[in-house]
Amino acid sequence: MSVVALVPAAGRGERLGAAVPKALVEVRGEPLLIHAVRGLLDAGRVRHVVVAAPANLVDATAKLLADAGLAADVVAGGADRTASVGLALRHALGVIPDTSVVLVHDAARAFTPPSVIRAVVDAVEAGARAVIPVLPMADTVKQVDADGVVVATPDRSALRIVQTPQGFDTATLVAAHALADSATDDAGLVERLGVPVATVPGHAYAMKITTPFDLVVAEAIVLQTERSLVEQSYDRPGAARQAAEEGS
Ligand code: CTP
Ligand code: MG
Repeated sequence: MSVVALVPAAGRGERLGAAVPKALVEVRGEPLLIHAVRGLLDAGRVRHVVVAAPANLVDATAKLLADAGLAADVVAGGADRTASVGLALRHALGVIPDTSVVLVHDAARAFTPPSVIRAVVDAVEAGARAVIPVLPMADTVKQVDADGVVVATPDRSALRIVQTPQGFDTATLVAAHALADSATDDAGLVERLGVPVATVPGHAYAMKITTPFDLVVAEAIVLQTERSLVEQSYDRPGAARQAAEEGS
């Protein structure tokens, strides 16, 4: 089965407030987009990656990826996330017409573990038409009215935080994007088709980097990952030598 990953990375990152678009903001010396695309390819299940970048940064983004040794096509994104995904999807279907599974993965969720990526692909390949990684809610959630007055307390145990990559069989995602509608995630469009959306366990590391606080957490995630790689290499000295030779 051909798995293609679409990476919406065309947002400005207004809430982060950096001088460059969010996907180009660096964490431990590398842009979020590079971390995100490397994570997708390292999961070992993705045949092709298509990135949607800000229209004025398509060439620069393609060079960044090539310099990092990452194979990915770059297209110009659109006015909102849904439009960016739609443009990347159209390109992907042109390049890989036999695409059977499509992952949609925010560049802003750059540290999603490979195990989550593989679990999403597995679930689609096992027959689910739409799959999303989710986590339980830690906080109580209130619904408020326009004045900020609480109107309801939804049952937290039935609520989930939603992450990416979200996985779809190709026909389902194409139909969802044909709705000419907009949503904050692709599963939201699929729900409007009446198609069931399955869930798999997400991971804290798949958090969306939105604010400067999240960047501090992201630095900690990468440090922790680097540290556990070093610890593994103590357990397996051969792996340490190989990692040193590869400069990682
Ligand atoms: N995105 C996109 N095209 C847009 C808007 C967003 O490809 N027109 C992408 C972002 O680059 C990001 C993902 O969608 O990887 C999730 O969006 P979000 O976290 O909201 O990022 P931004 O829109 O960049 O941030 P902000 O809303 O703070 O401006
Ligand atoms: Mg946004």
